Amino acid sequence: MNSSRILGIGSYLPPGIVTNDDLKDLLNTSDEWIQQRTGIKQRHWVDASTDIATSDLGLLAAQKALAHAGVDKSEIDLIIFATTSPDYDTPGSACTLQAKLGIPGVPALDIRQQCSGFIYGLSIADQFVRTGLYKKVLLVCAEIQSKGIDLSPRGRDVSVLFGDGAGAIVLGSTSLVTDVRNSDLPHVLCTHLGADGRFAKDLWIEYPGIGHVGSRNSFKEEDQVKYFPQMNGKTVFVNAAKKMPEILLTSLESQNLKIEDVDLFVFHQANIRINEMVAKQLGIPDEKIFNTIELFGNTTAATIPLGLDEAVRCGKLRSGMLVGSAAFGSGFTWGSALIRW
Ligand code: ACO
Repeated sequence: MNSSRILGIGSYLPPGIVTNDDLKDLLNTSDEWIQQRTGIKQRHWVDASTDIATSDLGLLAAQKALAHAGVDKSEIDLIIFATTSPDYDTPGSACTLQAKLGIPGVPALDIRQQCSGFIYGLSIADQFVRTGLYKKVLLVCAEIQSKGIDLSPRGRDVSVLFGDGAGAIVLGSTSLVTDVRNSDLPHVLCTHLGADGRFAKDLWIEYPGIGHVGSRNSFKEEDQVKYFPQMNGKTVFVNAAKKMPEILLTSLESQNLKIEDVDLFVFHQANIRINEMVAKQLGIPDEKIFNTIELFGNTTAATIPLGLDEAVRCGKLRSGMLVGSAAFGSGFTWGSALIRW
């Protein structure tokens, strides 16, 4: 049995910046409302007049992660792609990314865990590496939310939140780390996952599923709204603020560690107020939390790898540091991870 470690990380944001003021007339909103309720000032959106797809953003992040790891694409044994905004309903974006990377034959797996996509993907990749079945796994988390949201005042509660972007890691094996406290070896200490499908309809995109009366042949004009994300914001808020600290503590307890042992927290970026509540409940000082939501918005599956990469590049995350991470999203799904960087 091995441990796994992050060999390399990369991220990509499309160049187009959309400020809150840019959305003012389109969505009947205001900079003041968005900043007060969410902490978001701007987000990056792709140019919707082009055919740019989520796998294109994923490809750019993946190439950076491979270069950072010093790993050639031919060494990758498995691709995992986490996204809420796939290129197509079928097939999955891991397949389209695999073709763009030019590594035919490599297994390609899509996961649909939305905002918890990075933690779920890390957990799956970690198990494959630990057992020794695969030596190097490419985990890509990418989203183009801007092409799939309701850009009318009807959808403003959701549409002001989301940004486009991608983050990727290459996970490889390292010798098994048994004594967490005395090891500076970079490795994934643990991941923990949870879900509660009773809340599926509190944050969902109903169409183009088939779990409703009628078929695609009986599509009506009024059904268009069902292709957009719908959210019961208060229920999401309450559950996220409860489940994220709970599952982070589960990870810490499993390793006999405490909040104080963690050097940096990189949480999912749904809403700055959720992260403030998590920090308050756990007694985490501001300087130990790395948020990106102000400038990137909520990039769903990509928020955590984007945040980790940004933290590395600005010197906040350095070798040997212990990183704590937690996410919550549609499903509901949630998860946590502890990583020695
Ligand atoms: N601009 C201006 N006004 C708005 C907007 C907007 N973008 N959106 C909603 N409003 C209005 C509503 O119409 C309502 O007006 P009314 O009082 O006249 O009826 C008022 O603001 C309050 O609406 P609420 O929905 O009650 O607003 P709330 O205070 O709950 O804030 C929010 C909404 C920010 C979405 C909040 O529920 C929240 O933070 N939820 C957490 C969910 C979240 O962050 N999801 C992110 C995606 S999911 C994920 O990543 C886990």
